[in-house]
Amino acid sequence: MNKMTVRDVDVKGKRALVRVDFNVPLDEKTGTIGDDSRIQAALPTIEHLVKQEAKVILCSHLGRPEGKVVDNLRMTVIAERLSHHLKRPVQVASECIGPKVERAVAELKDGDTLLLENLRFHPEEEKNDPAFAQALANLADIYVNDAFGTAHRSHASITGVAEYLPAVAGFLMERELTTLGSILGNPAHPFIAVLGGAKVSDKVGMLENIMNKVDVLLIGGGMANVFLKAMSFDTGQSLVESGSLSTVFGLMKEAAAYEVRILLPIDVVVTDETSAGAKATVVSLDEVPPQMKIVDIGPKTVDTFRRELEKSRTVFWNGPMGIDEIPEFAQGTRSIARILAGIKATTIIGGGSTAEVVVDMKLADKMTFVSTGGGASLRFLGGRPLPGVEALLDKDSK
Ligand code: 3PG
Repeated sequence: MNKMTVRDVDVKGKRALVRVDFNVPLDEKTGTIGDDSRIQAALPTIEHLVKQEAKVILCSHLGRPEGKVVDNLRMTVIAERLSHHLKRPVQVASECIGPKVERAVAELKDGDTLLLENLRFHPEEEKNDPAFAQALANLADIYVNDAFGTAHRSHASITGVAEYLPAVAGFLMERELTTLGSILGNPAHPFIAVLGGAKVSDKVGMLENIMNKVDVLLIGGGMANVFLKAMSFDTGQSLVESGSLSTVFGLMKEAAAYEVRILLPIDVVVTDETSAGAKATVVSLDEVPPQMKIVDIGPKTVDTFRRELEKSRTVFWNGPMGIDEIPEFAQGTRSIARILAGIKATTIIGGGSTAEVVVDMKLADKMTFVSTGGGASLRFLGGRPLPGVEALLDKDSK
């Protein structure tokens, strides 16, 4: 990575504004944190800064409050969880800019940690308002971006502040870019991409960018329906993103040109009702009843995918194989997770719902790397620049 990191700067006694992505899932009823991987993933940078005796000022968004104060999206609960992991107190500010925060920052001692209130309570954050960015920047001497998950957004706390402060990457940002970058660089072959999720359109850029690197594409989820339709299979009542049919023809042509094998489901789980407790039936691909929907890959497909994966040396996985929120239709997705956890290959898991499955199954530590970025990782793998990375100082800058 050619960007400066926290390793390259002397932070002792300095105020470091650290943009983290603490946008973690919260239980709607109780407000408690679900998967806190994103909090844990930011610990190395925070611990480093504390050890180097910086005054650590953390900032993040939480949810999408759309520029208004939403009480159940306050950062208090995050500060408590962070404090638990750091095993030291974390102060919380009731605002993210303004005189109160300035006073709290002025009182910080070297090695102290303060978490600012949800950045998205201010509409100026998402608008990348220069005055808001400057108010944030005024709190600090240096800016550290460790929010890989939000690096695809050009928001005030991501790109704006970098105009006013020396800006470097944190360790999580560095690790994400290096690991995901290794897929685009020189992956060990056979390199397999397992792709699922609802839409082809979300993944076209990434698919086009990795087509000349990958050996095999294993495709499931709603994405597969478009490929199946393109090959004239009857997909019954399945959701098919028909606007992507021509894209899929193009991708299949490209795959053929690069000698990439595309494997699609050979059997599928079908249902006439997509709710918990619904009856799930396995049928072969040419037997999808006209009134049913495809909701998962079947066991024969899992076996075929397993045989390929066992021969691989690098695997990138993004997107569930079925409707993984409903247990009856989650078996394909969960089987892929278990297979990846057991093979010797380098296994890189895309963020978002794929990461959630792996974490929920307690398999994250069996994978080489689980990304904390959903949209950010797709954009990065699509070869498109991330504004939050572009804004950081280059290694060779003075
Ligand atoms: C994410 O969860 O993908 C990031 O935190 C970015 O959140 P956003 O999609 O609301 O910008």
